[in-house]
Amino acid sequence: MATSVFILLFSSSLLLSLACACDRCVHQSNASYSTSFLAIAAGTCGYGAIAMDFNGGYVAAARPALYREGLGCGGCFQIRCKDSKLCTTGGVKVVLTDLNKNSQTDFILSRKAFMALGRPGMALKLMRLGTVDIEYKRIPCEYKKHNLTVRVEETSQKPSNLAINFLYQGGQTDIVLVDVAKVGSSDWKYMTRSGHSAVWNTSNAPAGEGLQFRLVVTGGYDGKWVWTEKEVLPADWKIGSMYDSGVQITDIAQEGCSPCDTGDWKRIN
Ligand SMILES: *[C@@H]1O[C@H](CO)[C@@H](O)[C@H](O)[C@H]1NC(C)=O
Ligand SMILES: *[C@@H]1O[C@H](CO)[C@@H](O)[C@H](O)[C@H]1NC(C)=O
Ligand SMILES: *[C@@H]1O[C@H](CO)[C@@H](O)[C@H](O)[C@H]1NC(C)=O
Repeated sequence: MATSVFILLFSSSLLLSLACACDRCVHQSNASYSTSFLAIAAGTCGYGAIAMDFNGGYVAAARPALYREGLGCGGCFQIRCKDSKLCTTGGVKVVLTDLNKNSQTDFILSRKAFMALGRPGMALKLMRLGTVDIEYKRIPCEYKKHNLTVRVEETSQKPSNLAINFLYQGGQTDIVLVDVAKVGSSDWKYMTRSGHSAVWNTSNAPAGEGLQFRLVVTGGYDGKWVWTEKEVLPADWKIGSMYDSGVQITDIAQEGCSPCDTGDWKRIN
């Protein structure tokens, strides 16, 4: 008897905790826009001009709590404004590329993204408002035409100083650990994420060798290793070049929140 009561209590609290775990937490916030697309696209995450190709120019800067010292870089968010007369219910999908240090608002969107919040004919009205109340949620990034891609950063110096940035990171996770090794070797060298950007570096990259990577991605309740199965950087890797990792991340990290996604958001890509 006592045991079954215990089991009942236990399983109902388990159900409760499951109910609080969701893919999509909805947050209330506000957003403005920047007239300088490049300032946001080529922002503190360090993606440079390549960010223009991420998401059709739909990019955003976010306040420090969302930027998370660079960990939030590359994350995708669905944002909609709360004035239903002016704005669509689907809103817009943006990729985080920059830290918003000074603005009064939580997000600064590229002008193109800000205008896309509006219903047809409402873009100018929105621009005149300048700041709008929004709801947002993190959503998975999808890059159908790209695997996770490694860009060798300008701060790299041959032979062993290697700095990289990950582009086209799919799914809804954070990259929290990165190791590099010579292809086929188990002598992994850890990399460090540096300078509040999304750039990872090491001064111990194996010199003159083809390189492979392994990462830990996580976001809420769990971590997972992602291994590249082949050579990613050739022995003669070039600064400024991009290399296909041959893998893509599709995992979605659970967040604990209330309320969860209400489900009335139009799906956008
Ligand atoms: C935007 O929201 C933040 C709180 O999240 C608040 O501190 C700030 O004053 C708001 N800005 C505007 C312009 O309403
Ligand atoms: C890694 O980045 C940090 C911060 O930008 C820098 O101080 C350090 O020298 C870099 N190390 C290497 C090996 O590039
Ligand atoms: C991703 O990598 C796999 C394995 O190397 C490859 O077969 C595939 O063509 C790549 N996909 C894209 C979109 O580049």
